[in-house]
Amino acid sequence: MIPKRNLFDIDDLSNEEIGSLFALAREFSERPAPRSLEGIFCANLFFEQSTRTHVSFQCAQMRLGGNVINLTPAQLSLATKGERLDDTAVTLRALGIDVLVARHPLVGAVAELGTAFEGCTINAGDGTNAHPTQALLDAFTLRDIIGELRGAAIAFVGDIRHSRVAHSSMRLLLRCGAQVRAIGPECFLDRRDVPVGVEIHRDFDAALPGLDALVMLRVQHERFEKMPIDDAAYIAAYQLDADRLRLLAAGAPILHPGPYNRGVEIVDDVTLDARWRYREQVRNGVLVRAALLHRLVHGW
Ligand code: CP
Repeated sequence: MIPKRNLFDIDDLSNEEIGSLFALAREFSERPAPRSLEGIFCANLFFEQSTRTHVSFQCAQMRLGGNVINLTPAQLSLATKGERLDDTAVTLRALGIDVLVARHPLVGAVAELGTAFEGCTINAGDGTNAHPTQALLDAFTLRDIIGELRGAAIAFVGDIRHSRVAHSSMRLLLRCGAQVRAIGPECFLDRRDVPVGVEIHRDFDAALPGLDALVMLRVQHERFEKMPIDDAAYIAAYQLDADRLRLLAAGAPILHPGPYNRGVEIVDDVTLDARWRYREQVRNGVLVRAALLHRLVHGW
């Protein structure tokens, strides 16, 4: 019998648990992961598109020897037959699913599923609210590259308001003692969009030289009706281009949760720059998710 344990957001993990996860992820990078999910059934239930998170979870589950079932909303009875989310969760558990990884466009929908599910539930992103495993892999990657996060100046740039990645990551980095900065226009960033302790900046050029790391964000067009700022004005003020690359310190990594939009928040030059560490983020995502799955199923 596996324990009921949920990861809805980053606050569901203690600092000790996060430290233990990172240590295990590091071990998994140095030797083959154990087949610790043999006999465990994992269902990935994505109500919203995903390349990175969905495939990353599948890779992690398969590396640990788990049985993997991928479900799309169109396959489920709740799409057309009126079944509720919580009843779907009860049914999946009764069918023998042990671990549920879910993404949903509505804030709180994954918590609704997970509360009813008597196994482990992992939030793979709910609306604008939270994306805790992206926060974990970002912090793991940043620590790997810049070392100590305490005191490090780390900025998130762009559409902070609609970014569940920024919301989860900023909270985790504040817990790690980082100086977290949010940079963007008023239509995508005000005090309500960031946790207490995050500095708000409007002038990207002025903020760049003081940074130890930069996280660029996509404009989340799917979460609002009409672009609230002129495209050209947004790009002029917040695109990371060749001139702005020169303002960033030589050793400061540039991260992006993906998908990234060339010609909007970044230019092609960024993806060719030695500070662009996106591929490491993606690779680390499999390690961190494998560590999380192992710990949720087998304990800490
Ligand atoms: N970072 C992230 O959540 O990407 P996907 O939407 O492709 O999963």
